[in-house]
Amino acid sequence: MNDMFKPDEEIINLTELREAEEDIGRNPSGNPTMGDIINRRFSRRGFLGGSLAVTAIATTVSPLALMIADEARAEGMSAFSFSEVEAGVDETHHVAEGYDADVLLRWGDKVFADSPEFDPMNQTAESQSKQFGYNNDYVGFIPLDGADDHGLLVVNHEYTNAELMFPNWATIGKDGEGKDKVMMGEFTRDIVDIEMAAHGGTVIEIRKQDGKWIPVLDGKMNRRLHVGTEMALTGPAAGHDRLKTKADPSGTKVFGTLNNCAGGVTPWGTWLMAEENFHGYFIGELPEGHPEAVNYKRYGAPAGWYNWGTHHDRFDVSKEPNEPNRFGWVVEVDPMDPNSVPKKRTALGRMKHEGAESVVNKDGRVVFYCGDDERFDYVYKFVTSTAYNPNDRAANMDLLDDGTLYVARFDSDGTVDWMPLVHGEGPLNADNGFMSQADVVIEARRAGDLLGATRMDRPEDVQPNAMTGKVYCMLTNNTRRKEGDENAANPRANNAFGHIIEISETDGDFASTKSTWEILLKCGDPSVTEVGASFSSATTTNGWFGMPDNCAIDADGRLWVSTDGNSEKRTGRTDGLWAVDTDGDARATSKLFFRVPVGAEMCGPLFDPTGETVFLAVQHPGDEGLATYEQPATRWPDFRDDMPVRPAVVAVTKQGGGKIGMA
Ligand code: FEO
Ligand code: CA
Ligand code: CA
Repeated sequence: MNDMFKPDEEIINLTELREAEEDIGRNPSGNPTMGDIINRRFSRRGFLGGSLAVTAIATTVSPLALMIADEARAEGMSAFSFSEVEAGVDETHHVAEGYDADVLLRWGDKVFADSPEFDPMNQTAESQSKQFGYNNDYVGFIPLDGADDHGLLVVNHEYTNAELMFPNWATIGKDGEGKDKVMMGEFTRDIVDIEMAAHGGTVIEIRKQDGKWIPVLDGKMNRRLHVGTEMALTGPAAGHDRLKTKADPSGTKVFGTLNNCAGGVTPWGTWLMAEENFHGYFIGELPEGHPEAVNYKRYGAPAGWYNWGTHHDRFDVSKEPNEPNRFGWVVEVDPMDPNSVPKKRTALGRMKHEGAESVVNKDGRVVFYCGDDERFDYVYKFVTSTAYNPNDRAANMDLLDDGTLYVARFDSDGTVDWMPLVHGEGPLNADNGFMSQADVVIEARRAGDLLGATRMDRPEDVQPNAMTGKVYCMLTNNTRRKEGDENAANPRANNAFGHIIEISETDGDFASTKSTWEILLKCGDPSVTEVGASFSSATTTNGWFGMPDNCAIDADGRLWVSTDGNSEKRTGRTDGLWAVDTDGDARATSKLFFRVPVGAEMCGPLFDPTGETVFLAVQHPGDEGLATYEQPATRWPDFRDDMPVRPAVVAVTKQGGGKIGMA
């Protein structure tokens, strides 16, 4: 939530707290404080003053502009063909005409044939650990038997909203100034353990029957991962003293994964879960003079968003000071083996990982792109040392333990330098406290500071397009960027609506260390000059958006963007899925395809290999304003008085079949 619309004192629920914390930014480095290289190539710089916020919402594109837009589209320049959804806010979802959006899996649904039925009045950790978890975020699909209509769906469960999950628990009370506020109930051991079981991820077999996707509850690979699941730490930091705890003197074994945001599916069919806001799960104070103090400050830990540490000592840093070093990684899961031990791949660095999308490079090595989602943090990529072997799955299973992690510096001349985070190179040495590569990956952010990486406006998904050699980087927003602190790649002070950068990797070589970049899109209402948005003139009043977050490239190489943070008061619309043209005269034209119910964020999105289905994750629906279990902002998707609002994955298909967004 940005401070223009929601001052800190008005924070009334966990989602808003989460956003406000991210708003602060943890990066103390001055890298680069470059008022001196303020964008010359892309000189249009926007500034949105507080008084203009209202205008931004109230103003719409004129009828004449809409007519012109319709004519432009009639010329067929766009790569997309569908009737646009009308932007707005209400209790349910909306998809483009001629499409079905079917709810596939909801919080509490069975994952196994013998899972208990969802009983919201009598929840237990035991039953939750066999049911679909809360707040679905990343969605991946892994075909089985080479079939397009049968595969494994892998889904991350990022976090929990206790106030919406538990009956007779949260209430509306008053804050210190007499304003209404959601008052949380008691975080008993039972509540905490249910929260822990609702985190993590789900593997579930799905099959298309009569044109519709259905879960296969007796699928042999179905699995729930949660905060009790045993995992291994591998790569350069595995076994290091900084990762050792009382429960794990080896520094190689850890239970669970936290705040799994976006992720990826590797070319060899494993699932990557990105650990994002891990700092929020820790409470307590480090012992006086503890050597991890500087490290933890850079990551904002402990932030105390959850009270798990009152029942589980390892989430209290005064009792288990090294535990936060065991989170913030990319976790690799082999979904083909439900007994496999997931591996935290430390070679990809420790940060607030948004996702980990990948591409097979022309030399066979695999390149993974990662955003570190915090204000003023960095964009990274990881290049494996050896090539992917498409004929031997087993040979690829540890590719992620050996490679080079790079951090990006975006220069004002339109080049991007990918700078290696390698121990012993440049400042990454003992003088700066880096004794080995383990220290470099554990403190990847500080390593990036020393190399002079570019401080970005909250990097979210970073998605390579294998067909074009381009890479799309979602920068969601950053209202803490001051005038004078803009840089070429983050050209707007008080960037309330975010932007999208397009990187062109040199000669289509994704492993390139010097490439070029430009801004594809500055987001926000294009009819308000001061916002400085740069949607094409063919974009309608429904087509623009703020706060790009996740994205997908479909089977035809087209870009789709989903958002986090649009609302009635910020943009006069909910979050949703937008189709964004990247080529030709239609470049930077955006169209609304799907919108979520009030309070929700749009995650996923994931196209199946045929391009005929897009899976969408509707996260934290009903979480708007003063929302509790008894009083959610909507009861989507069941709309039953005896059912809570439920996050759910939706499968969108075209009526009568065919590719999404094609005529
Ligand atoms: Fe979990 Fe950066 O969104
Ligand atoms: Ca996200
Ligand atoms: Ca986000």
